[in-house]
Amino acid sequence: MAHQHSQFQCVALRSAAASLFPSNIWIETAPIQDLPSIFPEEAALMARAVRKRRAEFLTGRSLMHTGLSFLGFEANPVLRAPSGSPTWPQGVTGSITHCDHCCAVAIARSSEVLALGLDIECGEISGPELTSMICNESERLQLRGGTASELNLKLFYSAKEAVYKALHPIVHRFLDFHEIHVRVEHSLQTFFVDVEADGVDDRLRKLIGRFAIVGNHVAAGVAIF
Ligand SMILES: CC(C)(COP(=O)(O)OP(=O)(O)OC[C@H]1O[C@@H](n2cnc3c(N)ncnc32)[C@H](O)[C@@H]1OP(=O)(O)O)[C@@H](O)C(=O)NCCC(=O)NCCS
Repeated sequence: MAHQHSQFQCVALRSAAASLFPSNIWIETAPIQDLPSIFPEEAALMARAVRKRRAEFLTGRSLMHTGLSFLGFEANPVLRAPSGSPTWPQGVTGSITHCDHCCAVAIARSSEVLALGLDIECGEISGPELTSMICNESERLQLRGGTASELNLKLFYSAKEAVYKALHPIVHRFLDFHEIHVRVEHSLQTFFVDVEADGVDDRLRKLIGRFAIVGNHVAAGVAIF
C-alpha cells in the first residue's frame, strides 16, 4: 500500500517536474526503494549510511544512469564531490532531489545547458524564524499574496535551494538565502532571481526558474543556458 502511494505521488510529481524545464532536458521521477547498486563505487559511498539515505541515494543513481543512457552516455559510476554535488561525466550537467517517498533527476548535455538546479520540498516549512531565515523583506511582502502562506514560504525555500544546486558547482562558494532574491509570478508559475553575492559572474546574476505545486509538495527548477 505504501509503495502504491509513493508510486502515485511520483506520477503526480513527474508531470509537475516535467513542466519545470524545456524538452531538451531529461527529467524523471521514481519511488524511493532499496535497490541493488549497479556500481560498487557508488554503493561504497553509502557503506555507513542509514537505510533510508542509502535507498534515496541509490534510487537517484539508478535514475541518473537511465537518463545518461537515454542521452547516449556510457555507463560509469557517478560519485560525489566534497561539496556533495554529483560528479557528472564530461559533457553532462544535472541535478537531483529527494522528498519523502520520491526522487527526481534532471539531466542535460552541457553543450546545451550550463547548469541545472532541481528541488522538491514536501516537509513542513513555517514559522517566523524560518521566514526570516529564508526571506528578505520584499519576499516577506510577497508571502501575503498568491497561494496559502505556508506553501508560499516553501516555494521561496525550494526556489533558493534549486538556485543553490545550479550555481554552487560553478561558483564554488556557499550562498546564503539572503544573497538570493526571488520574485514570484504566480500566474506564470515562474520566479525571477537576482543573485547578490560576491564572486558571482554577471551572467549568473539574473536567472529565471519555474515552479509547480502538487498537494503539499513544491517543485522548483532553474536551468542556466
Ligand atoms: C545541498 C542542498 C542544497 C540539498 O538540498 P536538500 O533539500 O537538503 O536535499 P535534496 O534531496 O533536495 O537534494 C539532495 C541532492 O542535492 C545534490 N547536492 C548536494 N550538494 C550539492 C551542491 N553543493 N551543489 C549541487 N547539488 C548538490 C546531491 O545530488 C544530493 O543528492 P545525493 O546526495 O543523493 O546525490 C542543501 O542541503 C544545502 O546544503 N543547502 C545549503 C545551502 C543553502 O541552503 N543556502 C541557502 C539557499 S541559497
